Amino acid sequence: MNVKESFLKDVLEGLSSEPKKLSSKYFYDENGDKLFHYIMAQPEYYLTCAEYEILQTHSLDILKRLHIDNGLRIIEPGAGDGFKTKILLESAMKNKYDVVYNPIDISPNVMNILCNSLVKSYPHLKCEPIIADYFNLDGKFPDDQNKKLMLFLGSNLGNFNNTETSAIMDRFSSELKQGDYFLLGVDLVKDPHRILAAYNDARGVTSEFNFNLLLRINMELQANFNLDNFIHFPLYNPVFQQAESYLVSKVAHKVVISGTTIHFEAWEALLTEISRKFTPGKIERLACQSGFTVLENFYDINRDFCCSLWEKL
Ligand code: AVJ
Repeated sequence: MNVKESFLKDVLEGLSSEPKKLSSKYFYDENGDKLFHYIMAQPEYYLTCAEYEILQTHSLDILKRLHIDNGLRIIEPGAGDGFKTKILLESAMKNKYDVVYNPIDISPNVMNILCNSLVKSYPHLKCEPIIADYFNLDGKFPDDQNKKLMLFLGSNLGNFNNTETSAIMDRFSSELKQGDYFLLGVDLVKDPHRILAAYNDARGVTSEFNFNLLLRINMELQANFNLDNFIHFPLYNPVFQQAESYLVSKVAHKVVISGTTIHFEAWEALLTEISRKFTPGKIERLACQSGFTVLENFYDINRDFCCSLWEKL
């Protein structure tokens, strides 16, 4: 199945399920990438600044916790623009660590931009991008003398439900050997009002980000979503400790997607994304389930966010 076929399959499956849902991984077309960058610049979206602060303050502390005999291989699934990773890499370069950096992303374009800019700033850095879906990493890394540090930052793990989280963590864990390391960046449970505001910014960028998913389906899958038929409705569920984003249909109507008709009832909800929030206890349990032990949690001053450093058992 090619990329478009599996996109169509996922969309039709999601829209035939109860409740209707779409996978948040499809947010990120070119326009979606741009909108996510605007989201990160919104005052309500505290996550990015908090994680940036942690890395600014603690990069060297993190590196100093690692036992490295030879070189260090830093592997980053879903690296994107690597904006935050640069801080860690800079700290490693300044302190004369011997580093190979393997960013992994499905976009060759994004990987080229990242590696070109990194090599310009740090000529001693070995940057070896891997173009792949991070569910499919088997055998992508040479088994050499380098200690591995895998990064999964930006609260990206929050988009996966419990089952998906276990599956993805098992995948990551299986790429690492005993004594290798994992650095997980996740958003923490806090005042529900602040979390909700982060997914409901006053300028409406998050709303536009959600609607862009329908536009993308219209363009790429020959569909006829009328955006005026929906409202953006985010909420925070304090029991499940997750933000949930919905597009709610205002009227009963039909949408045709590559020839398949989907019915919406009036006020029917379409789930577009969950963003799970963590506590130190949840982080600890997740590490344990995935075959790691927590070495240290690094927090920002406000304790909004956590970068948790794990060692593989
Ligand atoms: C990139 C998955 C971390 O869930 O906070 C931001 C994406 N969605 N605003 C998140 C997102 C709406 C973001 N992650």
